[in-house]
Amino acid sequence: MLDAPQARRARFITFEGGEGVGKSTQVKRLLHSLQQRSVSAIRTREPGGTPKAEAIRSFILQGRSESWGAGAEAVLFAAARYDHVSQLIAPNLRAGTWVLSDRFHDSTRAYQGLTGGVDVRLIEALERLALDGNTPDLTIMLDMEPEAAFRRVAERAIEDGLALTGDRFEKEELDWHKRLRQGFLAIARANPGRCIVLSAAQSEDALEAAIWEAVTTRFPELAGMSPA
Ligand SMILES: Nc1ncnc2c1ncn2[C@@H]1O[C@H](COP(=O)(O)OP(=O)(O)OP(=O)(O)O)[C@@H](O)[C@H]1O
Ligand SMILES: [Mg+2]
Repeated sequence: MLDAPQARRARFITFEGGEGVGKSTQVKRLLHSLQQRSVSAIRTREPGGTPKAEAIRSFILQGRSESWGAGAEAVLFAAARYDHVSQLIAPNLRAGTWVLSDRFHDSTRAYQGLTGGVDVRLIEALERLALDGNTPDLTIMLDMEPEAAFRRVAERAIEDGLALTGDRFEKEELDWHKRLRQGFLAIARANPGRCIVLSAAQSEDALEAAIWEAVTTRFPELAGMSPA
């Protein structure tokens, strides 16, 4: 039945993957596609998304929590996520607005858990509290060789006239990024109903089309809507 409340429910979609794979680019493109079809939607990001969570983001990304260790950092990320979910994500979904997040809980699983060595029980307990049932309906994992993603980030930095220092996560070694990639792929394999892995090593337009295909397959209510 087309008019069933289920068919109109706002969806929560997250984008995950290593640095420079094109998450931010594609979140903006999907937001545009939804809005063109008059779907109420917002985009947000993690860490951050609300003023309090952005304050925690800058504290962590400046390296000020580095000496605290990955466990305490996981708790900080969870505090940020708790605010982000309770103040922004859940209220928007309840109001019927789709939410697209540039990174979410899988990044904590991959960075602090699978590669950071934080006890999985801590990660899972924090996740339950912070998400409070707001698990993404769909997670798009953008996957590519870290070497190629690094080249993109380097080109972007040069275009922006910046020295390639980046934040502290971007200084980590290539083999660490390879383990991170495997971590995201393992999460996708363990959650096949929620996650879809797409090759990020294609043009922005081709990837946008692949994402739209995945989104409309998962949420058929979108298929009949044509762009304004
Ligand atoms: N499909 C693509 N092909 C080539 N270049 C791309 C593609 N998608 C994005 N880029 C470029 O690569 C750089 C990184 O893209 P983007 O910022 O979207 O990645 P990201 O995953 O959000 O990175 P970060 O993890 O650093 O936030 C940008 O300069 C962007 O213009
Ligand atoms: Mg980004």
